[in-house]
Amino acid sequence: MNHIKRGVLTLCLLASGVVLADPVGVTIDTTKPGPVINKNIYGQFAEHLGTGIYEGIWVGPKSKIPNTNGWRNDVVGALKAMHVPLVRWPGGCFADEYHWRDGIGAREKRPVKVNTNWGGVEESNAVGTHEFFELAEQLGAETYVNGNLGTGSAQEMSEWIEYMTSDSKSTLAELRRKNGRDKPFKVNYFAIGNEAWGCGGNMSPQHYANLYKNVETFLRAPPQYRPQMIASGGNDSDLTWTDTLSKELKKQTYGISFHYYTIPTGQWEVKGVATGFKEDQWFSTLSNTIKMDGFIKANSAIMDKNDPEKKLGFLVDEWGTWYDVEKGTNAGFLFQQNTLRDAVVAALNFNIFHDHADRVRMTNIAQMVNVLQAMIITDKDKMVLTPTYHAFQMYVPFQDATSLPLKLTNNPRYSYNGSSIPEISASAARAKDGKLYLALVNTNPTKEAEVAVDVPGQAIKSVNGRVLTAAAMDTHNTFQSPEAIKPAPYSATAGADGKLTVKIPAKAVIVVAVE
Ligand code: AHR
Repeated sequence: MNHIKRGVLTLCLLASGVVLADPVGVTIDTTKPGPVINKNIYGQFAEHLGTGIYEGIWVGPKSKIPNTNGWRNDVVGALKAMHVPLVRWPGGCFADEYHWRDGIGAREKRPVKVNTNWGGVEESNAVGTHEFFELAEQLGAETYVNGNLGTGSAQEMSEWIEYMTSDSKSTLAELRRKNGRDKPFKVNYFAIGNEAWGCGGNMSPQHYANLYKNVETFLRAPPQYRPQMIASGGNDSDLTWTDTLSKELKKQTYGISFHYYTIPTGQWEVKGVATGFKEDQWFSTLSNTIKMDGFIKANSAIMDKNDPEKKLGFLVDEWGTWYDVEKGTNAGFLFQQNTLRDAVVAALNFNIFHDHADRVRMTNIAQMVNVLQAMIITDKDKMVLTPTYHAFQMYVPFQDATSLPLKLTNNPRYSYNGSSIPEISASAARAKDGKLYLALVNTNPTKEAEVAVDVPGQAIKSVNGRVLTAAAMDTHNTFQSPEAIKPAPYSATAGADGKLTVKIPAKAVIVVAVE
């Protein structure tokens, strides 16, 4: 083997003629712990949209599909296994046309409405406040309720809060008891509107800020039951919203919600397909998804100016891939397949969120079941776990872990058609179990990479965890082949020289404990 020094890059010319670059370097500094990675960064979103709730998780107590109080056991069991920390409900755009009184009392007497946002289908209101909290309790998850600012009022929201949180003998609290719940529900977060710039009412930032302050005044609750209030942020790169909200709403807001979707083509009209894509859309999808970093940085810079003490949270309460809907499905149901590409998208975003853990305190992938970048896809009594589910499950140790600074050196670019993105993305943290975890993503769909891991002051013996990859970029699970893609065990041990190299396959995600 010949060694040829070219600047900092050493190339090894193998007998076969294959040229391998020096490994990528990952150096983890355990002496300077960073902020805690809020577990709610791994939050979920369940909207009354398509089969995201009805059929997907809710089948009703009389269904033949095994369920507990209407929520299907298989789906809830799988979600519990991925430690869902938080669920946002009931929308989305749906929230601004949702009237909570439609969803309480005897289910057979609830009004049937039209879901005007999503497919124009009938909304039975079978899932309402009590059912949502039942789901959250089954999951052991925190709750995030999105209030109706669009077609609702301060009075309607204030009465909903009283209904959910009052321990008094008020008429509303007694109504809750009559409907089967004695003690108040725990509403952890409450948003005043959604996408107020668009489907939530086409408002201007100043108009919204004034309305928010007005409504928030009347959302009273006993201190131990008072939810943290969330303000609806601006559209994409509209920094005016962030400026207005972070100046005006600091005192009465937990955080500002932001939405960022990854669209392969970058165009809403023709977004790109979920499966059967070529390398051009693999590249553009990853390239568009890592723009999340710039999106957070640009908005955080405004927040830092108006809120230097970092009181306000940056809450990405909708994110994920958005493709053209699957052929033959209701366009309003936003149903799409989910492949290895989606798992890589998820992992890249997790690493970005960890990097901004000082500001990013919650995110909610859109959405939990059967909608957009889902964790689970169902068909009648069958269900299948998606590659995104596996990515979330692999990253569980990062929930409430303490982030650790990490330096990436010698990281090549993955180039396609004249553009490029970093080949390796990495993140490290000290988890609650005391172990050091490392997450790695290889964005290159054709080239394995070697990553030399170094933790100054610690002799690494081995790394142990799991790897997620597959033969094709669009490998996905189906009801016929539910385990076409799933994590496999991964381990590596240090050489005699004490150095440890992780070999990460092309298009892969690895999460390991460094021991
Ligand atoms: O997640 C689907 C929709 O996307 C949500 O209802 C809305 O808030 C966003 O535009």
